Amino acid sequence: MKSTLSIDLGESISKIDPRIWGSFTEHLGRCVYEGIYQPNHPTSDQDGFRQDVIKAVKKLKVPLIRYPGGNFVSGYNWQDGIGPKDQRPTCLDLAWQSMETNQFGLHEFMKWCHKVNAEPDMAVNLGTRGVDEARSLVEYCNFPKGTYWSDLRRKNGANAPFNIKVWSVGNEMDGDWQIGHKTAYEYGRLVHETAKAMRLVDPKIELVACGSSAHQNKTFGAWENTVLNQAYDQVDYLSLHQYYDNFDDNLAEFLGKSVDFDRFITDVIAICDAVKAKKRSDKQINLAIDEWNVWYHSKAADEKQTPWQKAPHLLEDHYNFEDALLVGSLAITLLKHADRVKIGCLAQLINVIAPIMTNTTGDPSVWYQSIFYPFMQISNYGQGIALTPHQDVETYQTKDYEVPYTDSIATYNPTNHEVVIFIVNKAKRSMNFKLNTANMQLKQIVEATQFAGYGLHQTNEDQSMILKPLTDISIDNHQVNAYLQPLSWNMIRMSINE
Ligand code: AHR
Repeated sequence: MKSTLSIDLGESISKIDPRIWGSFTEHLGRCVYEGIYQPNHPTSDQDGFRQDVIKAVKKLKVPLIRYPGGNFVSGYNWQDGIGPKDQRPTCLDLAWQSMETNQFGLHEFMKWCHKVNAEPDMAVNLGTRGVDEARSLVEYCNFPKGTYWSDLRRKNGANAPFNIKVWSVGNEMDGDWQIGHKTAYEYGRLVHETAKAMRLVDPKIELVACGSSAHQNKTFGAWENTVLNQAYDQVDYLSLHQYYDNFDDNLAEFLGKSVDFDRFITDVIAICDAVKAKKRSDKQINLAIDEWNVWYHSKAADEKQTPWQKAPHLLEDHYNFEDALLVGSLAITLLKHADRVKIGCLAQLINVIAPIMTNTTGDPSVWYQSIFYPFMQISNYGQGIALTPHQDVETYQTKDYEVPYTDSIATYNPTNHEVVIFIVNKAKRSMNFKLNTANMQLKQIVEATQFAGYGLHQTNEDQSMILKPLTDISIDNHQVNAYLQPLSWNMIRMSINE
């Protein structure tokens, strides 16, 4: 089979917001406890943070991390997680039916973010709480000093304000599983008023309103429309959450889900812009896809969990090879919408539907899932400018969509004069891939790798899955030819002459 990608240095989608490669850590299962924080672990530093985990997270270069939930946040009292640890209450986490010790809270998270070079995306509870708690939290975090909340922060050890810029106002409020679930109108009104109060404390913050928690939800579309009609002027981003599964073990359908993801994004952009037009507004609402991934392997096991454990093994999907192909394809889809998708959070980061897994004892203490590899490559090298992809390849038909056999895109990074191509080959046959370029002179291949040759259901507990060199590749001034393995994720980095 053949696939051609044509790019032109003068034709771009947009500058890429680095925050598109963010991630998410929730008080859920072993993400925080036994993931980020485990004071008795041999690798832990004086703060109880596992340094093996910090090292692994740094490899992904995640610039932004959403916290503390997720469903957890809709029943969370942020005040329970501040102050002396021996005075913090142990609470029921109703969302995940777990025991929350609050030994890790706001200050610990901020310190950890600093250690992994990420900025926080702080979620506020609009389930059991509301305007008052949200504005107090902004004051606690961002006001310099001289008020009750800002001075309490200082007393708790943080003299300088945290200056948190990005705030998620609620979580999945469209879902009936959410504590404090609301209708679109109720949430729209509440997010408007909450955002207004939060901005009165700190006008520099950026606010994310909850969109739909899945494209398939019955309320999709109407939810976005109603929420934005109420809150358009007070928020900056609308969120999208999307997880895919392969319960039917149907590879073609599963790999075709990137087309659904693309349609979801396109649909939400259309709604944002329709509300903009209706309101005759000059302001553009951008998208925060602040939960995306594959999630299904652990669901049966989770139903058998005993409630009210501390750090239970929940949502511990062990990802296989085909999951890595879809994750790569979804990441390429984010780049295709770099003009409107400004924040993305791979959900989640450690142990819970995550690229990084930990063992509490023994060797290896940390292991990488299959999905770690495509995400690591695109988060490290999918930077700079997303170039408009003109792809020519055969398609196949799924139940709902026409799916191209390859997903491909190129980015141009002006800081190191590199053009990087990411390609997923979804065909069971090899692919003769050709890159045609205009307005650029290709110099040499800097790195070419493939993730290929593994069984579709192979997982990576033994760490045998690795990136391999892509050797069947040639380059001349304006063209690259590469022979791609069947079912493969590929990355080609090239330097160009300016
Ligand atoms: O990421 C796991 C859960 O998925 C989150 O808590 C929730 O927001 C979503 O439903």
